[in-house]
Amino acid sequence: MNTGCFITLEGGEGTGKSTQSALLFKKLEFAGHQVVQTREPGGSEGAEKIRQLLVTGNPQNWSPVAEALLISAARDDHLRRVIAPALDHGKFVICDRFIDSTTAYQGVASGVDRELLKVLETHVVGKFTPDLTLIFDLDPQTGLERAKARAQDGEDRFEAKGLTYHQKIRQAFIDIAQKHAERCVIVDASLGVDDIEDRVWQIISDRFL
Ligand SMILES: Nc1ncnc2c1ncn2[C@@H]1O[C@H](COP(=O)(O)OP(=O)(O)O)[C@@H](O)[C@H]1O
Ligand SMILES: [Mg+2]
Repeated sequence: MNTGCFITLEGGEGTGKSTQSALLFKKLEFAGHQVVQTREPGGSEGAEKIRQLLVTGNPQNWSPVAEALLISAARDDHLRRVIAPALDHGKFVICDRFIDSTTAYQGVASGVDRELLKVLETHVVGKFTPDLTLIFDLDPQTGLERAKARAQDGEDRFEAKGLTYHQKIRQAFIDIAQKHAERCVIVDASLGVDDIEDRVWQIISDRFL
């Protein structure tokens, strides 16, 4: 039985997802909740191996369809081994990127057939639609500058795809937020870290606490 709260953080590179994911994790734990903080692609042993194939190396290494399949394989493992069990135990799950990133990156920006993505979503995500999705919205130029300034980890394959690609990603997330208004909230990611943290906490408190 799925009794937990599944929260996903979405948005382009350098929009502050990982920063806010860590802050939200601490706050929820401090408030006495059981929380799992995780991320995609990755989040389970098998999925982290697939992540390495995806986020390093030449931007042209994988076709968009191959990316969608690899990400879906990683998501299947992550969901079954980490997310679903945590939700079954009534925990909060904070996931840095999830299904909406596949729609934005592989679907809208890279043109993978929507029917294929829909089939993958049905079979992999199934009933595990997030309860809440925070969409971090930021001008991609600023986001890429922030991402570049961040400690280098060699995970720059998507960052290397160019500004036009990232502008498409930004618009794709805005469209997703409008299409799924019941679960998505857009967060202004141009604010300072503390202001965004407060805004996120307000949204979480209103919905779940
Ligand atoms: N609101 C903010 N204002 C300025 N810099 C930020 C903000 N949030 C995060 N950063 C910095 O920007 C970089 C990217 O943030 P990060 O959380 O890694 O983004 P993402 O996970 O969305 O790619 C990091 O160096 C982080 O410290
Ligand atoms: Mg991140």
